[in-house]
Amino acid sequence: MEATNLHFLAIFLLLVTNVSAITSAAAAASSSSSSSYSNFIKTSCSTTTYPKLCNQCLSSYASVVRSNPWKLCNSALSVSLQAARNASSLVAVLSNQRGLTKAEATIIKGCIENLEDSIDELKRSIKAMARIGGSSTSSSAAKKNKVGFQMASVKTWVSAAITDEDTCTDGFAGRKVSAGVKSKIRSSIVNVARITSNALSLINHLNY
Ligand SMILES: *[C@@H]1O[C@H](CO)[C@@H](O)[C@H](O)[C@H]1NC(C)=O
Repeated sequence: MEATNLHFLAIFLLLVTNVSAITSAAAAASSSSSSSYSNFIKTSCSTTTYPKLCNQCLSSYASVVRSNPWKLCNSALSVSLQAARNASSLVAVLSNQRGLTKAEATIIKGCIENLEDSIDELKRSIKAMARIGGSSTSSSAAKKNKVGFQMASVKTWVSAAITDEDTCTDGFAGRKVSAGVKSKIRSSIVNVARITSNALSLINHLNY
């Protein structure tokens, strides 16, 4: 009787120890993978022109991206789209400001159009990338060619988005726009152009 009880106790203790060992191993694995996911983003961002901004924008996507470079690029494009929409709504608010000169109104209107183009180009890139990402593991030569062709289009659209963002502030070079309006628009545009240029540089590093 006593021996059976001891036997039972031994098995019980063994089980408890095993379960807790497994639990803590799982916790360690998940925390080490989550830090390796953060590291993946940091390392990828270090190849961009604005690494700090890149990491700031993308670190919250670590659990989505894991260590998938295609997902990283998609997230970078989504953030670029968000930033372009933010810039666009800021400029739209400023365009409704009272007391703008005619020249200011014209330049701001042009800027809104540029941002709309940029938003369209980013949306198109995101759609195309989502399609391509799923088939990127294929090794057939025909598929590789197709991916190469589609990626060339994505790069063209993202470059065009950057050009449109930059063009937005071109009209500000002269003295036709007041300093206050200029600086508000400019900082928002500089931000979106940097974020988009980081996205392009991540896309340029993709292997396919
Ligand atoms: C866009 O604006 C929202 C709301 O103000 C903000 O939470 C978000 O961080 C902004 N995103 C970017 C990329 O600038």
